[in-house]
Amino acid sequence: MTVASGQDAVPATAAPEVEFISLTHTNASTELAPIPTRGLDPAYIRRYVRALEDGGFDLTLLPYGSGSADSFVLASAVGQLSDRIKPIVAVRPNTVFPTVAAQQLATLDQLTEGRAVVHLISGGSDVEQARQGDYLSKTERYSRTSEFIDILRRSWIETEPFSHEGAHYRFDGFGPGFPPHAGSIPISIGGQSDAAFEIGGTKADVFSFWGEPLADIKSQIERVHAIAAASGRTDRPRIWVTFRPIIDRTDELAWAKAHDYADRIARTFESGAFRARPQGTPQNVGSQRALEFARRQEVYDRALWTRTAAATNGLGASTALVGTPETVAAAILDYIDLGASLVSIRGYDTLNDAIDYGRYVLPLVRQELAHRKATGRRGCVQAEHLGALATAGRP
Ligand SMILES: Cc1cc2nc3c(=O)[nH]c(=O)nc-3n(C[C@H](O)[C@H](O)[C@H](O)COP(=O)(O)O)c2cc1C
Repeated sequence: MTVASGQDAVPATAAPEVEFISLTHTNASTELAPIPTRGLDPAYIRRYVRALEDGGFDLTLLPYGSGSADSFVLASAVGQLSDRIKPIVAVRPNTVFPTVAAQQLATLDQLTEGRAVVHLISGGSDVEQARQGDYLSKTERYSRTSEFIDILRRSWIETEPFSHEGAHYRFDGFGPGFPPHAGSIPISIGGQSDAAFEIGGTKADVFSFWGEPLADIKSQIERVHAIAAASGRTDRPRIWVTFRPIIDRTDELAWAKAHDYADRIARTFESGAFRARPQGTPQNVGSQRALEFARRQEVYDRALWTRTAAATNGLGASTALVGTPETVAAAILDYIDLGASLVSIRGYDTLNDAIDYGRYVLPLVRQELAHRKATGRRGCVQAEHLGALATAGRP
């Protein structure tokens, strides 16, 4: 294998492998075409999970909100509807005692033969937290998450009964608890507050981001890695980045579609038909950052588009990648080059997009990584599919 230099060189920070994440939608309602239902559609879920598995996705997030379906129950269903895909259960520590969460996760892990992952959400909105009786400040919520992680891990491996007395939890003589399939279960952290970085850097297996411009996320990744190194751990949290790609046969068609989508999303949120658009400045730092990027600029780098984030007032994952499958694959590789090894992509036309990504985007990214592995050099997808970089800086 030759060592490449210049344009061909694979950056030292690049992740050698990638796993693709989706989010399990439970019915056909989308921001583009809301269907007035609050119910699950089991046939739709089966089709969606099958599409993810057939398309080569590796993981799928079961998100959590006070008004959503329960993420644990859904994760269990996803596990039984699939053979390979790993369910990521979003858990807010205020909703479950940590030894019980450890038991539920270990049960899911055994049922899926080692596929369970947990994504810890400390809570980004005081109003939403209060809906389920949580009145702690965000700082206290993150401190509780930190203690929650310690208890989860200990509950999974401790072979003798143990007691615990901390700032948030107290119990006596728990254990040995129900163990995971083998060893432990990966723990991911969501959130961009300073406390999220501190806990993620010192304790998490995975640290997650919504889609940010390359320069900004680069410094955020360096920040979390520096915290990990300073804490004395020998490994680093894996980096998860999240996008909502909008793809079509040409970049021009994809941009036309993107503008149409942004108009439709704005109308959906104005009508209140999908979810209420949060008003004012969101309390969670992740959404504040998304809105600040949208205020600064609409298009960043090769394909990152922020108008979709502005249209929802930064609600959840909302930044898009726009272009052909090749341009979007190249944009994803830009993030892999910075060290992201988990890439979440879900579209706005949820089921159809999941099928299209599996057919047209995932193989391109995987082909490039296989080429790099075989030759030690970059392939041509990033050099040939410049997207917005082709026109950047031109009058
Ligand atoms: C990839 C990812 C997935 C997330 N999933 C959820 C979720 O399912 N439910 C939720 O309430 N918040 C979710 N969040 C939001 C944050 O975790 C949450 O707002 C955080 O607890 C506090 O945010 P802050 O530290 O940025 O202020 C997610 C965040 C990321 C990055």
